[in-house]
Amino acid sequence: MSFAQTVLALLADGEFHSGPALGQATGRTRTAVWKAIQVLQKTGLEIYCVRGRGYRLAQPVELLNRERILATLDAGTQQAVQQLDVYHEIDSTNARLLEVARQGRGSGHICIAECQRVGRGRRGRQWVSPPGGNLYLSLLWRFHAGATALGGLSLAMAVAVMRALREIGLNSAQLKWPNDILVDGQKLAGILLELAGEATGPCAVVVGVGLNIRTPAAEMLAVEQPWTDLESALGKTVLRNELAASLLNHLLCAIADFERQGLAPFMAEWAQRDILADNEITLDLPTGPLQGVARGVDENGALLLARNGELQRHHSGEVSVRLSAKMDRSVVRGDEQ
Ligand code: BTN
Repeated sequence: MSFAQTVLALLADGEFHSGPALGQATGRTRTAVWKAIQVLQKTGLEIYCVRGRGYRLAQPVELLNRERILATLDAGTQQAVQQLDVYHEIDSTNARLLEVARQGRGSGHICIAECQRVGRGRRGRQWVSPPGGNLYLSLLWRFHAGATALGGLSLAMAVAVMRALREIGLNSAQLKWPNDILVDGQKLAGILLELAGEATGPCAVVVGVGLNIRTPAAEMLAVEQPWTDLESALGKTVLRNELAASLLNHLLCAIADFERQGLAPFMAEWAQRDILADNEITLDLPTGPLQGVARGVDENGALLLARNGELQRHHSGEVSVRLSAKMDRSVVRGDEQ
């Protein structure tokens, strides 16, 4: 644990702690404490400094804790998890696991971080990843079949995240193809799948989930798309370690089901929560926009688009989606976050 993290652990209760008290608790000078506070502030944490009282976090924080997450996993998930790494700060949990994959290590490696310096979103965009309130979680899984057999995996993963959200009481979330999770048309979570390996031979997939839980608005100014967070949607405090464990339970169970049965066990849940179904949409293709009516997804996860009396299939990664201008605001303008 870095010195800044040690100071953060002391501040996590949201109470005031004086410089001398923090110095005494850590065996360091007040100047060292002040420097640690600056390091923490640079990562995006809001810390008040009040003369005569000391330092306090704007809000108490439940820090991510590896042991607490492990202890909350289902027995089956505990067996499937080969390694669980919890970082305070990292470039990107996905990038980390892609490195692990290239070193040839196997399924069930998990990486979770308190914040990411260069969190990655779909289409090369940034995933804004401030510390203290959200979840940034990635999972590495090896498939015996090649990447071509993985059509639909990102949709199955979105359904798994929905299951975890339902478990903590959120029933209003919806899915937007290929794998955005929205509440009232505002983005709550995003999923990024990255592949290491060949299209035909065995391959490794990194599934990255970014979930807004308690998101500091000041850090999200650069995000153009409407977004929300789980605590606002639920109106209650969320225990992040419990939620991380629940996400892992559902993701690992879903990935194993997907490997055996493909998208079939997820199709009904997808259809129930599909925000695009039967709406007029516009697909932006490299060749130009296409308008049509969304008709759900096929067993490979392709979006079905009805136009000119025929049903077209569009695969994830090829297109982006937005509702036509005349549709309601539930819709997501852009694809950022
Ligand atoms: C999207 O653009 O909707 C996908 C966002 C995925 C973000 C997550 S956060 C954990 C993992 N690590 C990353 O760098 N990105 C994914």
